[in-house]
Amino acid sequence: MSKPPDSQRMEKIVSLCKRRGFIFQSSEIYGGLNGAWDYGPLGVELKRNLKSYWWRIIVHERDDVVGMDGSILMNRAVWKASGHEDTFSDLFVECPITKKRFRADQVEPQSGLVYYYSGATGRMNDEDAERILQTEVDPILRDLEFVWAEPFKDHVRKIRKDRGDWLGAVQAACDNWPDTRSRRQEIEDCFSATCSIAFSVLLAAGKPPEAAQKIAKLFYEQRGVIEPELIFDRKEPIKDTTRYNPENGALFNEPRPFNLMFKTYVGATEDESSITYLRPETAQSIFVQFKNVLEVARKKLPFGIAQIGKAFRNEINPRNFTFRSREFEQMELEYFCRAEEGMKLLDYWLEERLKFYENIGIAREKLHARNVPDEERAFYSKGTYDIEYDFPFGRQELEGVAYRTDYDLSQHQNASGKSLEYFDEETKQRFVPHVVEPSAGVDRTVLALICEAYSEDEAPDEKGKMETRLVLHFHPRMAPIKCGIFPLLRNNAQLVAKAKEIVDLLRPHMNIFYDESGAIGRRYRRQDEIGTPFGVTVDFETLGEKGAALRDTVTVRERDSMKQERVAINDLAGMLISRIS
Ligand code: GAP
Repeated sequence: MSKPPDSQRMEKIVSLCKRRGFIFQSSEIYGGLNGAWDYGPLGVELKRNLKSYWWRIIVHERDDVVGMDGSILMNRAVWKASGHEDTFSDLFVECPITKKRFRADQVEPQSGLVYYYSGATGRMNDEDAERILQTEVDPILRDLEFVWAEPFKDHVRKIRKDRGDWLGAVQAACDNWPDTRSRRQEIEDCFSATCSIAFSVLLAAGKPPEAAQKIAKLFYEQRGVIEPELIFDRKEPIKDTTRYNPENGALFNEPRPFNLMFKTYVGATEDESSITYLRPETAQSIFVQFKNVLEVARKKLPFGIAQIGKAFRNEINPRNFTFRSREFEQMELEYFCRAEEGMKLLDYWLEERLKFYENIGIAREKLHARNVPDEERAFYSKGTYDIEYDFPFGRQELEGVAYRTDYDLSQHQNASGKSLEYFDEETKQRFVPHVVEPSAGVDRTVLALICEAYSEDEAPDEKGKMETRLVLHFHPRMAPIKCGIFPLLRNNAQLVAKAKEIVDLLRPHMNIFYDESGAIGRRYRRQDEIGTPFGVTVDFETLGEKGAALRDTVTVRERDSMKQERVAINDLAGMLISRIS
C-alpha cells in the first residue's frame, strides 16, 4: 500500500533545496517559469554524481554497451516515423470558468451533489449587442430598404445608455420608428440574452447551493448573459467522478488531446517546411544512429547504446517540484537483442536497475516494480515495468523498463528507406533487432535522492543540550561535497596552515569544503544539512602538542553515526576514496 502524501515533509524539502542551493525556480526574479528549474552549486554536484555513476555502471563497467550524445534538434521526419507527431499527446480537460487545464487522467475523483442548469436568461452585454446591431439588425433594416438604418441604431445606443437594457432600448426605438413594425419581433428576438447551454456544478456534501449558483452564473455571464437568472433543472448525488474541476466544482469541457512536443522552426523562415521539435526523449537519436554505431563499435548482439541528455515536454500540469517538469534530463539505454531474448532481458534489466537504485542509497522497500498491464502499455511493447518510488507526495514512477520489440528500428527503416538490419555472421541471417529500454529520469532520481536522504534527528549542541539536527543522509557516492575540512581555531596560524595542506592533498580526488568560521559544532551542522559524509578536524593533537604519537593525525567525523576516529594524514586520502567511490 502506498503511504498517504506528506505535504509538510515535501514543503521542508523544497525550502531546504532553495536555502542551501540545490534547486532554484528558473527565472525566479521575473516570477519564474512553470515547469523549469535551475540547479544551484550543490544540486549540480549531486546531479553530476548521479549521471557519472549511471555512466560508469551502464557503459564503463560493461563490455556490451557504448555511449553516444545526440543532438536535441532532429529532422522532423524522425518524429513522424516514431509516431510522436501524431500520437505523443495527453488528454486534457479545461475549466470553462478559469480556463485552467488539467491532465484528464490526473484529476482526483470526487463525490458530492451535482446541480444541473439548462440555461440562463438576463441582459445582453455591450460587446454582443454592438455585434448584433452590426451583423444581424443591420441586414434586416437594409432588407426593409430602411434608409434610416444608421440613425436608428444610434438611437438604440442612446436609449440603452439612459436605461441600461438593450432589449428595452430596441423596443422603445421600434415604437418611435413605425417602419420597423413588420419585422419588429425579429429585431427584438436578436436582443433577448438567453443562453441555452446546459451546465452543472459539483458541490461537496454540506456546501450551500448558493456556491453552485455563483459558479453557474459566472459560466453564463462569460457567455454574454448579464445578471443571469439560472434555469435550474435538477440535483443529483454523484460518486467518484473526474468530470468536475476540484478547485471550483465547474463541469470541465470535453477532453481533448494535446501534443506534448515543443514545436520550433529551424532557419530563417517560419513555415511548414522549417518545423521541427525539441526532442521529447533521447531514445530516438539512438535508433536513428543504430547503424552508424553498430559499424564503428563492432559489437555483436546483444549490445546497448546509452545516452544522457535533455528532453522537453510541454506538460499540461507541471507539478510536485521537479518531478514533472517541462525541461528535464533522461538516462536511457537501448539494449538491442534477438526477438527470443526480449522477455528474459526485460527481467534482467529490471533487476539491474533496482540494484542501481539501492547502490545510490535508495532503500529497497521504498522501490516498487509495477508490471504495467496490457491496456496501459504501448501497443508495440510486449512487457513494461515501471520502477516506482515512495515520494512524500505518493508512489510515483522513477524509471520505465520496456521491451519495445523491433518497433522503433522498423519504423525508421520503413520511413527512411535505409536498412537498419543486423547481419548475424554465424547464422548468416539478416534481421531488425528487438530492443529493451531502461529509461530513467535524472531530475526525478535527484529528487528521490533528496527525499530519501532528508531526516531530522536529535544531536547535542555545544553545551551538550539535545537539539533537532537536520541531516541529508546521502550515500557518500552521491553526496555533493565529500568532506569538510576544519581547523579547530581560525586564529591559530599553525592549525589553519595544516588544514590547508589537507585541502591541497584531497582536492584532486574529491569535492571538499574548507570552513574555519564559527564553533566546530556549528560547522558540523552546516555540513550535515547538505549531506557531507565526512568532516576532518585539525586540532592540537595534529600539531603534536599532545604527544608525538598523535602528530599528523586528524579526527574524522562520520555524519550519520557522529562517531569520530583518529586517522593519520597519510592514510586520509586512501580511506576517504575507498568510502566514496
Ligand atoms: N524513451 C522512453 C521514455 O521516454 P517515459 O516513461 O516517457 O519513456 C522515461 O520517460 C523517464 O523520463 C520517466 O520514467 C521519468 O523518469 C522521466 N520523465 C518523463 N517525463 C518527465 C517529466 N515531465 N519531468 C521529469 N522527468 C520525466
